[in-house]
Amino acid sequence: MIRVYAGDARRMAPVADASIHLVVTSPPYPMIPQWDELFARLGATTYDAMHTVLEAVWAECVRVLVPGGLLAVNIGDALRSSDGAFALWPNHAEVLVRGRRLGLTPLPYLLWKKPMNRPNAYLGSGFLPPNAYVTLDCEYILLFRKGRIRRLPPHDAARARSRFSRAERDRWFSQLWGDVRAERQGPEGRRTAAFPAEIPRRLIRMFSVEGETVLDPFAGTGTTLWAAAALGRDAVGFEIDPVRAAELRQRASAP
Ligand SMILES: C[S@@+](CC[C@H](N)C(=O)[O-])C[C@H]1O[C@@H](n2cnc3c(N)ncnc32)[C@H](O)[C@@H]1O
Repeated sequence: MIRVYAGDARRMAPVADASIHLVVTSPPYPMIPQWDELFARLGATTYDAMHTVLEAVWAECVRVLVPGGLLAVNIGDALRSSDGAFALWPNHAEVLVRGRRLGLTPLPYLLWKKPMNRPNAYLGSGFLPPNAYVTLDCEYILLFRKGRIRRLPPHDAARARSRFSRAERDRWFSQLWGDVRAERQGPEGRRTAAFPAEIPRRLIRMFSVEGETVLDPFAGTGTTLWAAAALGRDAVGFEIDPVRAAELRQRASAP
C-alpha cells in the first residue's frame, strides 16, 4: 500500500509515532541554486537556515521511527561562491552533526560515486598549481539509527524471505558504490532531482523486512515509494509541491 500526503514534512501529523521502520530520502540540497526558491518560500535564505528547515524534518523522522528504525539520507555537498570566494558547503557534515544532536546514532555511511558526464570536469586554469579544485563527484548516503538495534523474533518468516545473497551483501555493504548510474533529468524547467531507483531498492533490501513500512518525507517523483511497493513493503510519502503530490496520488491510486 502507498500513502501520499501533499504538504510540508516538517509536520507529518497523519503519521503515527513509532510507525515507520525505515526512512529513505533525498532532501533539497542547501546552497544548490535549484532549491533556493523553495527554501526562500520556507523562510530560509542562508545555509544555516536551510539546514534548520531540514532539521525539523529529521526531528519528525525521529518521532515516527520505531525504536531501532533507520534513516538513510542521500545528500551532496554544494560548491558556491560566498562574498566573492569560492567555497564548499558541507551539507553531509551538517546533517550528520544535526542528526546526532537530535539523538540519532550515526552509522558508517555510503559514498555514491556518480559517473561524470565529463570525466575530466575540472575547476582551475590549465595545469598550474596551486589554485585548482578537486572535482565533487561523490554524494553521501548517511545512515542513522534511532536508539538501540532492533531485535526480531528468531526464525521470523518475513525476515527470512527478505534475505540478500552473499554477492549482494559484499557489493552493497562496501562503502563506495561506484556501480549506480545517475538518473537522467527531465527537460529543462522540470528538473526532478530524482535518484536512480537502484538506490532506494538497495537501501530498502538492506535495512527493512518485507511487510514493514518505508517513509520518504521528500517524495519527489516517488522513486522510494514505488521501490518499496515493488519489494513488498508499505510506503508513505510527503511532497510539498502540489503538482508533484497530485501526480503521486494519481499514480498511487491507479490499479
Ligand atoms: C531532491 S527531491 C527528491 C527526489 C526523489 N528522491 C525522487 O527520486 O524523485 C526533493 C523533493 O522534496 C520536496 N520538498 C522540499 N521541501 C519539502 C518539505 N518541507 N516537505 C515535503 N516535501 C518537500 C521538493 O518539492 C522535491 O520534490
